[in-house]
Amino acid sequence: MEIIITPDVEAAASIVADIVEAALAKPHPILGLATGSSPLATYRELIRRHEGGLSLAHATAFLLDEYIGLEPGHAESYRSVIGREFTDQVDIDPARVHAPGVHEASLPGACGAYEEAIRKAGGVDVQLLGIGNDGHIGFNEPTSSLGSRTRIKTLTESSRRDNARFFDDPEEVPHHVLTQGIGTILESRHLVLVATGASKAEPIALAVEGPLTAMMPASALQLHPRATIVVDEAAASKLKLADYYRDVFARKPSWQTWT
Ligand code: GLP
Repeated sequence: MEIIITPDVEAAASIVADIVEAALAKPHPILGLATGSSPLATYRELIRRHEGGLSLAHATAFLLDEYIGLEPGHAESYRSVIGREFTDQVDIDPARVHAPGVHEASLPGACGAYEEAIRKAGGVDVQLLGIGNDGHIGFNEPTSSLGSRTRIKTLTESSRRDNARFFDDPEEVPHHVLTQGIGTILESRHLVLVATGASKAEPIALAVEGPLTAMMPASALQLHPRATIVVDEAAASKLKLADYYRDVFARKPSWQTWT
């Protein structure tokens, strides 16, 4: 794992945007997009770069997860959120922005179809990730199998509470979601997890330096040959080897590029 500690949220976003921009040099880049507040600064930075000439016209995107039970077009569905915060503001073809098919007649069928769509597209080049306060990635709650595939999950009450800030009525937060599994996420070629703020210090320390365990789903990144964790000072504050990570990054050889 590569751990990059940045002074602030903007510096973190700039590094993550560099990684995405490098992937966009491919003829058919496949991006894995995350919702939540953590990647928002990265999306703003990519929109800024798009205004400066960066094109996403040749890219395809797959969302990590989606709520079950919100009506189509609901403002807080992840499909709406990603459109509003990112994809509607760049030149990616909306038809190539994919989300789990939560409105299909068969949800298990939609899960299989989503896996197949990712596979047929050639797999994800760069998967952006946030981390939940309980260590979830996507919506893989604690005890999710480290080999899990896209499936229906029930949210913990703590995740529902965390996400209630986006809804008028906390009762509106769905109980169920459709999420890429941890096994699905681990098949992406490059995992990039971004976390900022003091509330992420504990889950980051456990995910990076704690044991590999289904109780801390983000610890599964320890299994991946190419995982980059980008954190600001606050989110890095409980990392025991922080000085080592700073030294590694300062000495990063110039030939070690993002592609
Ligand atoms: C939700 C999303 C996750 C995200 C998490 C953290 O649960 N499904 O993908 O990582 O929230 O959100 P935030 O970045 O707002 O802290």
